[in-house]
Amino acid sequence: MANDQNEPRGAAASSTEVLDRWAAWLLFRRQGGSELPSEALEWLRGVRDRVLDGARLQPDDVVLDVGCGDGLIGFGALERLSEQGRVIFSDPSRDLLDRCRATADGAQVLSRCEFVEASADGLTAIASSSIDVVTTRSVLIYVAAKERAFAAFHRVLRPGGRLSIFEPINSFTFPEPPGVFDGYDLRAVGETILAKVKAVFDERAPALAPMMDFDERDLVAIAGRTGFGEIHLSYEVEIGRQVPQDWVQYLNSSGNPLSPTLDEALHQALTPAERERQVACMRPLVEQGRGTLRRAKAFLRAHKVE
Ligand SMILES: C[S@@+](CC[C@H](N)C(=O)[O-])C[C@H]1O[C@@H](n2cnc3c(N)ncnc32)[C@H](O)[C@@H]1O
Repeated sequence: MANDQNEPRGAAASSTEVLDRWAAWLLFRRQGGSELPSEALEWLRGVRDRVLDGARLQPDDVVLDVGCGDGLIGFGALERLSEQGRVIFSDPSRDLLDRCRATADGAQVLSRCEFVEASADGLTAIASSSIDVVTTRSVLIYVAAKERAFAAFHRVLRPGGRLSIFEPINSFTFPEPPGVFDGYDLRAVGETILAKVKAVFDERAPALAPMMDFDERDLVAIAGRTGFGEIHLSYEVEIGRQVPQDWVQYLNSSGNPLSPTLDEALHQALTPAERERQVACMRPLVEQGRGTLRRAKAFLRAHKVE
């Protein structure tokens, strides 16, 4: 099952159909319509802080957060800037931009924000050399044309401007060994049942290719090729136990915006008896955290050479 594995997992929600795919996932399907668990929030804040530390913000900077989602990085940046500092929230999802605008309004910081509908691989609405800092978190995994995205970051930055990025490195985790599903040893379920469930996720493989087809070395190489200098990358691997998770929330969550929830996949692929078998085997493992967590991540920072 291909996951935006550095995203906290959660469960499905009721009101997703009125939102676009990105907003529906980020605001609901990722976390099951309930609040993100506190440890997940803490994890996200830790990543946000490292991205912003890497950006070396100056008080009056103009920051462009690419793929801003619901504003994790952008609002974190605003807190670190002076009253003269500004943040441009950019995302292809109009619903997420609306969400950020509403948040900014509520926090009375609208005058220091701009909202721009844009894809990372073009950023056509952003003037060249107009930005002090580009940030992005877990966005390039969804962008097929990563080199074009870095070239766009380079174009919009002023000479000496800074780039700070976080990306999960999914090629470390996937594909999983036979019998393993999302870190859980499901050999007891039986090969036939498991193959049917995996096939539902594998149907999305072509669309998920941008999540899998790069690693940390590619990020460094692309940054170099697109004109960045003073490139620094931290690569971190974590292998450990899964944390215990609420079964219903797990069952109803999807690992990324392009994939079904496990519940949707089970219903699509299996008979009621087969579903019962997989749930009976998997539920205790998920609830007791008896699975292996294998993930890797990269923080990259770089400068546009003057
Ligand atoms: C995992 S979310 C991360 C959101 C936010 N950066 C954060 O840290 O919470 C991925 C975001 O990438 C956005 N996205 C998807 N495709 C994109 C593209 N081609 N260019 C820019 N952003 C994109 C989605 O709309 C979503 O907001």
